Amino acid sequence: MDRLLISGGVVLQGELRASGAKNSALKMLAAALLADEPVIISNVPHLRDITTMIELLGSLGVEVVIDEKMNIEIHANTIKSFKAPYDLVKTMRASFNVLGPLLAHYGQAEVSLPGGCAIGPRPVDQHLRGLEALGARIEMEDGYVKATTNGRLKGGHVYFDFSTVGGTEHIMMTATLAEGTTVMENCAREPEIVDLADFLNAMGARVEGAGTDTITIHGVESLHGCTHRVIADRVETGTYLIAAAASGGRIKIRDANPEHLEVVLEKLREAGAQLTLTADTIELDMQGRRPRAVSLVTAPYPGFPTDLQAQMIALNCVAEGTGTIKETIFENRFMHVHEMNRMGARIRLEGNNTTAIVEGVPRLTGAPVMANDLRASVSLVIAGLVADGDTIVDRIYHIDRGYEQVEEKLQNLGANIRRLGAE
Ligand code: EPU
Repeated sequence: MDRLLISGGVVLQGELRASGAKNSALKMLAAALLADEPVIISNVPHLRDITTMIELLGSLGVEVVIDEKMNIEIHANTIKSFKAPYDLVKTMRASFNVLGPLLAHYGQAEVSLPGGCAIGPRPVDQHLRGLEALGARIEMEDGYVKATTNGRLKGGHVYFDFSTVGGTEHIMMTATLAEGTTVMENCAREPEIVDLADFLNAMGARVEGAGTDTITIHGVESLHGCTHRVIADRVETGTYLIAAAASGGRIKIRDANPEHLEVVLEKLREAGAQLTLTADTIELDMQGRRPRAVSLVTAPYPGFPTDLQAQMIALNCVAEGTGTIKETIFENRFMHVHEMNRMGARIRLEGNNTTAIVEGVPRLTGAPVMANDLRASVSLVIAGLVADGDTIVDRIYHIDRGYEQVEEKLQNLGANIRRLGAE
């Protein structure tokens, strides 16, 4: 298994380009199954999770053509199978999202239940209830969800019990081919949902209200081909901004979208960053200063994203003062805390492990560390960047799931980081 070796202590400086959003692109690859004609998705990041989704489409018999710029062309009408096997779904939960599109377009689907994952149990009850509200017949058999429908799905009323990104996206895409109108309430409002709605509408769907808590979908009989460019990855952008701030550095990120990062930018200002924004660039300058500790609570968009919680803890580890960080989205998303404490951080967990209280220290100390989830792993890279000596981050296949060219991008900012082969 590959590892990353980081020699800490460098102040990050320079420029980089934001990649396309993983969590948009993954859903679009699933939604492409709805179209009768080829669709082209551009600005897709080159990541392990994207490759897994393409492999899943391939296993269904769907023809996928990728050019050297990661423009991906998908021909759903070459489909031969309607079964998404356990091996592919277990490695990436987003693959569960093929269930609705297969059912809506082809009237049948068999998709493995995703099971738990490192950050919590993550059930799919809201997805299944939503599909049933559209008339799907759902049965569980041998760990698989078997869904069928008698003719077309029917528009329905869906009320989500709480904000669910995946649930909102899954039902939104499925309802595009249902007969009649679907109204979804208490929807998640993440920018990736708006991006997906734009993609669906480019295929001829009639989705209204994405980005608000009520989404209305007027079903159409078929969807056609389209070309769509994926939005910038706000979590990747936020990660590099936080890394630069933790190091006291100065960076500029191009092709980003500052509008999607408002709360995060506010927290970075609180930490002492000077920010200069244009429509698609973000410049951060700490003027060589140590960050100030910040407190925050993760929440559905437009709140502070859970996907940047671990990185912010890394920043607080070396900040002046004490910051309190509360996680409200996932049950078990603090595994980085124990590893950071092994690097000399002073973090204690309270409130039944929902809150991390981080007392800043001037510097961390390098150590061998690892984590079982993408964002926790990258937060350990940030910790390594602001530690004295060498840090080896193990199991970095997690990072490769969500960060395109992570070591090249950090090297461009001056970081001392390289990939090591398996031990
Ligand atoms: N939940 C349920 N039942 C459901 C659906 C969700 O109980 O049917 C719970 C989850 O277990 C969780 C909470 O509701 O505790 C929120 O889950 P949500 O459905 O919003 O998350 P998701 O769609 O599974 C996406 C991102 C995550 C991101 C979350 C929250 C993708 C592929 N994943 O997950 O991204 O953390 O939204 O913003 O879009 C990552 O990129 O590292 C990542 C984990």
